Amino acid sequence: MTVLLVFGLFVVIATAHNITFLEVPRYGDPYRDANLNCHYINEKDDPDLHSVKWYRGNHEIFRYTPGQQPPTRTFNSTAGGVTRGSCNQHSCAISVVLPKAINTRISFTCEVSTEGPRFAVVKQTKNLTVAVVLKEDPIITGMPGSVQFGEEVPLNCTTSPAMPPANIVWYVDGKAERREPWMVNHTQVSHPDEFGLRTSWRSLRVRVNTPRGYMAVRCEATQPIWPPFVRSTNATLVVARSPHLSMFTASGINPAVSQVSVLVMTVTLHIFSKYSALSEI
Ligand SMILES: *[C@@H]1O[C@H](CO)[C@@H](O)[C@H](O)[C@H]1NC(C)=O
Ligand SMILES: *[C@@H]1O[C@H](CO)[C@@H](O)[C@H](O)[C@H]1NC(C)=O
Ligand SMILES: *[C@@H]1O[C@H](CO)[C@@H](O)[C@H](O)[C@H]1NC(C)=O
Ligand SMILES: *[C@@H]1O[C@H](CO)[C@@H](O)[C@H](O)[C@H]1NC(C)=O
Ligand SMILES: *[C@@H]1O[C@H](CO)[C@@H](O)[C@H](O)[C@H]1NC(C)=O
Ligand SMILES: *[C@@H]1O[C@H](CO)[C@@H](O)[C@H](O)[C@H]1NC(C)=O
Repeated sequence: MTVLLVFGLFVVIATAHNITFLEVPRYGDPYRDANLNCHYINEKDDPDLHSVKWYRGNHEIFRYTPGQQPPTRTFNSTAGGVTRGSCNQHSCAISVVLPKAINTRISFTCEVSTEGPRFAVVKQTKNLTVAVVLKEDPIITGMPGSVQFGEEVPLNCTTSPAMPPANIVWYVDGKAERREPWMVNHTQVSHPDEFGLRTSWRSLRVRVNTPRGYMAVRCEATQPIWPPFVRSTNATLVVARSPHLSMFTASGINPAVSQVSVLVMTVTLHIFSKYSALSEI
């Protein structure tokens, strides 16, 4: 009895292939085919691979059946079809046309079944959101070499082209830029480029009012899709505090001296960042 029971368990575990990795990009450009790949393995006592099926939502879009002729079939779907399929005993890759509507979310399922008598089935699902995500971190312009206490520094942050356009939020020393209630949205958006993509930008005037030697600014760009896509850039405003440091930076003097002053400021910055790291503990 015991032997039979153990044997039964063994059969249940060993008859299924295993999906080791399902490659579905989290975001997909509506103007390019998305490349999906399903990787699977079988143990040496497993029955042969019977079929691999791909589903978009609940609709089957592609089937690979190695024992049949032809081994692959694509199924038409109103949402867009499979343009290419290449499968073998270990993986099954397809390319699919995506809908053009930004922020559409699609689930893709890979289902692997083994030959009879049990036709054991394993499957995995992942979602893809249609969007052209930011390819680079935003760029902060207007960063001066160093600033004076009390100075107001105009900064600008610009994103790379994307769709939907990103919303930008500035943080100064970790706090979000104060927003006036009547100015709900300060992010400016460019006209669409030839591909329909838009860059976003947002300017900020930072008042240097910190008793420390630096201010940390951060520009965070978020695309309003689900899941949200975020890219950000940090920068540091170095505050020239002691009179002789600001004297060095104010005038050209000679290159050697200004290099020394840069060195001094760098060292100062290090000390201050160490200090703040310690004080957080
Ligand atoms: C499938 O693979 C995963 C991870 O490699 C492993 O944890 C799991 O036990 C495997 N399942 C089967 C049925 O072999
Ligand atoms: C899918 O539909 C298009 C037209 O809607 C047709 O040209 C194409 O042959 C069909 N493909 C398959 C595999 O049925
Ligand atoms: C995919 O999206 C659906 C909602 O559209 C959600 O219920 C599901 O949990 C998501 N699946 C994954 C794997 O994130
Ligand atoms: C910020 O940069 C954008 C382009 O990147 C530009 O169009 C805009 O005029 C700049 N704004 C300011 C206040 O400099
Ligand atoms: C802010 O502007 C962006 C781009 O113009 C837009 O997509 C977003 O919905 C706006 N947010 C709010 C809260 O109005
Ligand atoms: C940028 O600053 C934030 C805190 O303001 C920090 O959490 C993050 O790790 C920093 N990123 C980089 C790349 O330094």
